[in-house]
Amino acid sequence: MGPVGGTERCIRAKEAAMRHSVRQLAARARWAAKERCRALSFLLSPNRVSWRREWESCSSAEDLFSFASSHIGIGQNRVEFLRFLAYIEGERPANVLEIGVRDGGTSFMFANALKTSRHVLGVDVRLRNIHLLRAYCPTWIVRQEFVCGESARPSTVSEVRRRLGSAKLDLLFIDGDHSYRGAEADFEAYRQLVRDGGLIAFHDICMDHRRRYGAETPNDSGEVYRLWQRLRGSYETKEFFEDEKQNGAGIGTITWDPSRSVDLG
Ligand SMILES: C[S@@+](CC[C@H](N)C(=O)[O-])C[C@H]1O[C@@H](n2cnc3c(N)ncnc32)[C@H](O)[C@@H]1O
Repeated sequence: MGPVGGTERCIRAKEAAMRHSVRQLAARARWAAKERCRALSFLLSPNRVSWRREWESCSSAEDLFSFASSHIGIGQNRVEFLRFLAYIEGERPANVLEIGVRDGGTSFMFANALKTSRHVLGVDVRLRNIHLLRAYCPTWIVRQEFVCGESARPSTVSEVRRRLGSAKLDLLFIDGDHSYRGAEADFEAYRQLVRDGGLIAFHDICMDHRRRYGAETPNDSGEVYRLWQRLRGSYETKEFFEDEKQNGAGIGTITWDPSRSVDLG
């Protein structure tokens, strides 16, 4: 094909990219409008007062988990998450980042159940329930912020870095893109923001039963287990699950040590 054909192809590719961006912007605007409506109906709902009372009466991590399950939505196994929480509590994390917030229950737990947390950040391509997370955040001690965007994009990482200022993360919780490359990209993009000796946690380190046994299951823990298998030999680690052969979920933490390296393939 001559230079004219090449130019046409280039113009067509640019037009397609532009159409894609416009579609994305439109989808984002529709999503934001829907979230505004949900926030408004929450504001007018009688639940607002009763849920507030319920939140104020929570006196343990167990109570808070039940609150998150009933009123916010949390993608965590209760038993393993509470064990994980008790472990990280001992490390006294102040600055926390969750990649992949979805309904927000886990960010809610980081802000409410960790006595030492002071700054809780969350990243997601689609943010939801921000009105609930604002309503149920102990703002007098914790600053909670969210960044909307593809987690591993340099612009998203820069925005997180800007919000952290000179501070480093004590806990990074990776639960976004569950493909091998996606989880690896999050690990590589954000580990530089974690302090030496801080914790990096991965959710879904256990294989789901479709991958393990070829069984029909709605659970899909992606390929995080593959990344975990590579990392676990190279760092100090801890694992939290009810049963090693359970159907997905499971949380693995590494103690971040920048002097060690691992070949991720
Ligand atoms: C499994 S859910 C997270 C559940 C949540 N951590 C919890 O404990 O309730 C995964 C989330 O990651 C988000 N996500 C997936 N890929 C992403 C990416 N590349 N960048 C940012 N967010 C992403 C999805 O929008 C979804 O909300």
